[in-house]
Amino acid sequence: MKQDSFVWHPNTQMSEWNSFDKIVRGQGMWLIDSQGNKLLDGVASMWCNVWGHSKRELIRTIIYQSKKLQHSSLFNLTNEPAEKLASKLVIISPGMYKVFYSDNGSTAMEIAFKIALQYWINKNIKNKTKIATLENGYHGDTFGAMSVGYIPEFFSKFKSKLFSTIRIPVPNKYRLPKGYTYSEFKNYCLNKLEKLFLKDNSIAAFVMESGAQVAGGVIIYPVNFQKKISKICKKYGVLLIVDEVATGFGRLGSMIQYKAQDSQPDIIAFGKMLTGGYLPMAATLTTKKVYDSFLGEFHDFKHLFHGHTYTGNPIAATLANENLKLYEKFKLIEKIQITSKIFEKYYSEILELKHVGDIRHKGMLMGIEIVDEKRRKIPFSSNKSLNKIVFEKGKKHGIYLRTLENIVMLVPPLAISHKDLNLLIQRTIETIKTLEH
Ligand SMILES: Cc1ncc(COP(=O)(O)O)c(C=O)c1O
Repeated sequence: MKQDSFVWHPNTQMSEWNSFDKIVRGQGMWLIDSQGNKLLDGVASMWCNVWGHSKRELIRTIIYQSKKLQHSSLFNLTNEPAEKLASKLVIISPGMYKVFYSDNGSTAMEIAFKIALQYWINKNIKNKTKIATLENGYHGDTFGAMSVGYIPEFFSKFKSKLFSTIRIPVPNKYRLPKGYTYSEFKNYCLNKLEKLFLKDNSIAAFVMESGAQVAGGVIIYPVNFQKKISKICKKYGVLLIVDEVATGFGRLGSMIQYKAQDSQPDIIAFGKMLTGGYLPMAATLTTKKVYDSFLGEFHDFKHLFHGHTYTGNPIAATLANENLKLYEKFKLIEKIQITSKIFEKYYSEILELKHVGDIRHKGMLMGIEIVDEKRRKIPFSSNKSLNKIVFEKGKKHGIYLRTLENIVMLVPPLAISHKDLNLLIQRTIETIKTLEH
């Protein structure tokens, strides 16, 4: 059989799709396909686009650096853009001291796990080998990331090959266990964590997304939840790894989400929006305390055995530097805090829709939970994937949407204008209205 395309698409039942629209150009918040149709980018091209497409300053930066130095590795060498970026990241990330580069969020998290596990070995504390985490978290699709961010619907096929972790429940206001108020369940989760640390001193690190769990269904943490976890980790000498890949850099309304949460991690990871969403780059940052444990004589073998071909790529690093400059120049974080209020205007209208069970919103992120039956909160089910249905219907309204399970995700480019955000939300409402079995 002749095939038209040789591309295998991510997280996609390929037999459900006859073809995929070919995007040929991006302009501002819009993606334009080969037929000339325009789609408003409602998912920031997988949650990473900051300024919209074809931002002049970013294109200029790529061209400038491409002419000078395209790639030179950090193995035995360094380069100016990577140095400059590392010093900037350290300045904006309280408590952090060194930056380890990689190319994507999953890998940045793998590096975080390796650093945390090896930290205790370097300190000659042999029993600290376990990783604890929150239920329902997501940290990427590689093996370590799947082990820690284990979402059964995604990863059960690989379960036998994943390492085990200890999991603490997370409060989801919409789906609380019977008999608990939100605040009671929050305290229950925190107590459970403290009890775990009290009885088990072999935990090397606790891992959590910063501010909210995104892929796990847009679960926004209650006030002080992350702060208390940070304090408990400190009290019991457990390293705290905070994943800022999806929620840092303004997505939840603050540049550095762990700072907004008044928490102090030992290791953090950035990705997605680091380069404005134009080139792959990620970074794992650690405190001086963690970094110093890796120093010693060469034959001590205390150094970190990790490296990637494109680590610290100068084009991506220059782009990230320019991106950070634009954040300041255009006061993006302040703007996001204003733009984000637009979502609130639509809360009641969205909640009244027949198939909407709940909405969860913070900053420039909204999750709309689609249910079959509001009262019993039964998730929407259909033979086709809800993603495919919503995508097709959204396309008819000129918007690009992707769902996660039964959650319609609104994750627009951070610098979206008020006009375009209103349009995106209104068209999403129209799209959800047409959902039926
Ligand atoms: C919180 C979080 N961590 C890590 C990742 C993995 O990033 P990547 O897809 O760049 O590997 C994601 C991706 O969505 C994420 O949401």
